[in-house]
Amino acid sequence: MKKIARPVIIAGNWKMNKLRDEAKQLAVAVVNGVKGLEEAPEVVLCPPFTSLSEVAGAAAGSRVGVGAQNMEYRESGAYTGEVSGPMILDAGASWVIIGHSERRQYYGETNQTVNLKLKAAISHKLLPIVCVGETEDERESNLTDSVVKRQVAAALEEVSAEDLSSVVFAYEPVWAIGTGKTCESAEANRVCQLIRATISGLYNSKSLAELTPVLYGGSVKPANIEEILAQSDIDGALVGGASLKKEDFLSLIKAGQARQAVSAG
Ligand code: PGA
Repeated sequence: MKKIARPVIIAGNWKMNKLRDEAKQLAVAVVNGVKGLEEAPEVVLCPPFTSLSEVAGAAAGSRVGVGAQNMEYRESGAYTGEVSGPMILDAGASWVIIGHSERRQYYGETNQTVNLKLKAAISHKLLPIVCVGETEDERESNLTDSVVKRQVAAALEEVSAEDLSSVVFAYEPVWAIGTGKTCESAEANRVCQLIRATISGLYNSKSLAELTPVLYGGSVKPANIEEILAQSDIDGALVGGASLKKEDFLSLIKAGQARQAVSAG
């Protein structure tokens, strides 16, 4: 296995699940689970906005990070229903997921809004997890590589090399999300390498690309995490369904810990 100084990140995207009490309970369980672990991976919990400050309170002072699932790129004003970067920070979160495929599919997000949101996140010093990935139709039409390359390049437009250092990517093939179908790990690794090669080309710097964490997401669960994390270019997981159950998520964190120990060793 490779030994590159990239962190292992296990992030839970709770999507539109959990009321505040349940969210707090799960956050406390995760915080307690991570407490005793040496070489713990970076753990990030992304609850709905309504539970953000509750979860941030539970995670305060621990090694568990907290993130929003989306953000508005403008700072304030007449944008009914939106939540801005300063509001996310004010709720106690320091991460934000940007361009999740459910946002792209159901809420009209485009490569352009993803770019605006990424630049806004960076300007507010939020740590962004940028999601890219092809649909089933695109995969069947052999468009995976061109779609992913375009998404990565568009997201990073006008993002400086210096700012890239805070950006995390997640390869999430849309057809593997919430479907129980995982992308074959070697193929997921190939696309994660492609993401890195795209970054390397954009910045004309192999070393910058080597330092950018790339996660995999799409039906990650305890039964497949080890194989996924054993891949050379996958640095962790963005997890939906399995992040909602304490036992499952803690077991993913333990797999991340084992991988972290190997990378550090
Ligand atoms: P899933 O979701 O783990 O439930 O497939 C992943 C995601 O949407 O980030």
